[in-house]
Amino acid sequence: MAEGRPSNRKVLVLPGDGIGPEIMGEVLRVVDFFEKRRIASFEVSEDVVGGAALDTLGTPIGEETMRRAMESDAVLFGAVGGPKWDALPFDKRPELGILRLRKEMDLFANLRPAVVFEALAEASSLKRELVAGLDLMIVRELTGGIYFGEPRGIETLPDGSRRGVNTEVYSEAEIERVLRVGFELARKRGRRLTEVDKANVMESGRLWREVAERVAKDYSDVTLNFMYADNCAMQLVRAPKQFDVVVTSNLFGDILSDCAAMLTGSLGMLPSASLGAPDASGRRRALYEPVHGSAPDIAGRGLANPLAAILSFAMMLRYSFDMSEEADLVELSVRRALKSGARTADLAAARGSPLSTRAMGERILSELEKAA
Ligand code: IPM
Ligand code: MG
Repeated sequence: MAEGRPSNRKVLVLPGDGIGPEIMGEVLRVVDFFEKRRIASFEVSEDVVGGAALDTLGTPIGEETMRRAMESDAVLFGAVGGPKWDALPFDKRPELGILRLRKEMDLFANLRPAVVFEALAEASSLKRELVAGLDLMIVRELTGGIYFGEPRGIETLPDGSRRGVNTEVYSEAEIERVLRVGFELARKRGRRLTEVDKANVMESGRLWREVAERVAKDYSDVTLNFMYADNCAMQLVRAPKQFDVVVTSNLFGDILSDCAAMLTGSLGMLPSASLGAPDASGRRRALYEPVHGSAPDIAGRGLANPLAAILSFAMMLRYSFDMSEEADLVELSVRRALKSGARTADLAAARGSPLSTRAMGERILSELEKAA
């Protein structure tokens, strides 16, 4: 393992709102475990984001927080938003905190793996045989498309009526760089890549296909196929094991990854990594977050599943710090805890009384103890 390496891994923790602080609390206990056992050490600092930042700083993310995020080796992010801030004007929404981090850190490649843990195949909303052994990776473009395209806004027309505008824009360079991330991943996995778009109605989708065909020439060992986004949504619930790596735009990736998440038993299981381009020294900006949101309805009650956040921490070990053995250790502990019957409420369906967030964290720690 990476014992003895210098402890210059700067990690900024942004728990955010709702269940964010609870799940991040369990991640920090895993970090503590790594420190105490001298497996790895991190320079951890914490800050506010989203509604928590609105309440204390009057903005969804402070300038100082942005600066610290830009300087960190990795950001661990919880979740943002909640009813308390729902009525705020658009430029004050908590979600702007995460959107600004993604954009300014240039985290264009969002990796959302959907893996079905053997012990959870029954918890899926689909039949066991459709999902058992599922392991697919959605690569979502994260800094372009309709989320950021101009023009945007709500405008008043001469007759006094209003119209809302958002724009899907993608340059070839934006498409190419995210596709390359997908092809590289496919190469290390099942060597199949599905590019998903709506090229039948959108010009930007046609461009995605053209660029994909061109980039594919550099990856002759990977099989490329194309799929319309609506068909992909259907195929994900019909026969999800046909997929290896899916690469798609920001909006389609947002929607399809929630769908893929549910195949794994619960949205509470899905981690993600958002990566920038590596610089000359191989260092890349990165942010890790569970795919689920702030779940205000269950916040503060110890009901949240901390596994997506803990698995996001594992992705940080793997992708930011090249600590694949340590990442394996965390993932193994999750697998073993689930196998031994550990279930939070989102997974519990008729399996006796569910574990609290903290109790699930304990189970992971005790598996780590045994395995480390
Ligand atoms: C996600 C979320 C975000 C998104 C929200 C919170 C802005 O749904 O990460 O999938 O739409 O990207
Ligand atoms: Mg989403």
